[in-house]
Amino acid sequence: MRILITGIGGTIGTVLAKDLSRDHDVKGIDIRPVDRPGAVVADLTDAAALPRAFDGVDAVIHLAAERRHGREIGWDILHPRNVVATANVYDAAKAAGVRRVVFASSMHVMGGYEEAEPYRSIAAGRYAGVNSAKVALVSGDMPPRPDGRYAVSKIFGEQLARYFADWEGLEGVVVRLGTISEADRPGSDPRSFVSWFSTRDVAGLFRACVERPGIKYEVVYGASANTWKIYDTPYGWRVLGFTPQDNAEAFRSAGSRQ
Ligand SMILES: NC(=O)c1ccc[n+]([C@@H]2O[C@H](COP(=O)([O-])OP(=O)(O)OC[C@H]3O[C@@H](n4cnc5c(N)ncnc54)[C@H](O)[C@@H]3O)[C@@H](O)[C@H]2O)c1
Repeated sequence: MRILITGIGGTIGTVLAKDLSRDHDVKGIDIRPVDRPGAVVADLTDAAALPRAFDGVDAVIHLAAERRHGREIGWDILHPRNVVATANVYDAAKAAGVRRVVFASSMHVMGGYEEAEPYRSIAAGRYAGVNSAKVALVSGDMPPRPDGRYAVSKIFGEQLARYFADWEGLEGVVVRLGTISEADRPGSDPRSFVSWFSTRDVAGLFRACVERPGIKYEVVYGASANTWKIYDTPYGWRVLGFTPQDNAEAFRSAGSRQ
């Protein structure tokens, strides 16, 4: 397959390019120069710059975005980088006859649920009285509850995926990502024991997102097989035929192990 990765120079793009190029023809776009063959410099907000890069592509993995989700990030930044750029990617994919677009969304789209119990306690690391195996998980088809403007901008991308799947014949996978970092281990905050997504599991899940046949539109959550879950990651593993290998608990210090 010829796969185009937007934001190929970023944290996740670097991981995916390395893994997928083992057996696929991987190309990339980034706004800054990236030292790898097939990577071109282009700004996704410039629609006229895109057709050449999309020519002959089978699947697009759209990662490029403003990923900061703090309250200080306003529409002046989010509108071009996450709204206009994402709309341009779907239009260019459709025009080029791309079969599937995989869109990097975020668990923040559903972050409002983390204000309710038992999710609030789990995210805070207060596990007393909660059975991790019996938590009713937040599924992909529940109504979004964005926890900030960044999350609202991601809902726009998710709905582009829905629209293009229903009306324009473009297969779509939305991945509501947890937390990926170059350190490749959970952070010190308790929530990262819910959201941690190891780089090898990231690579495996996105590989399944592009390779799995028979998908029209799916919303999946992206995290490793962490014991403490809020989101229904197992649904995505089933529809994608993917088995994660890591669990954040392996990094829990012995004194705080549950
Ligand atoms: N890393 C995480 O923990 C995490 C969690 C949830 C969601 N996500 C989402 O996953 C995606 C990738 O995340 P990441 O951690 O690799 O981000 P990153 O910031 O490391 O990489 C993004 C890349 O996109 C490029 N880019 C930004 N705007 C562009 C534009 N207009 N045109 C072309 N290139 C542009 C940047 O130069 C950068 O190389 C993002 O959409 C982010 O919102 C990431």
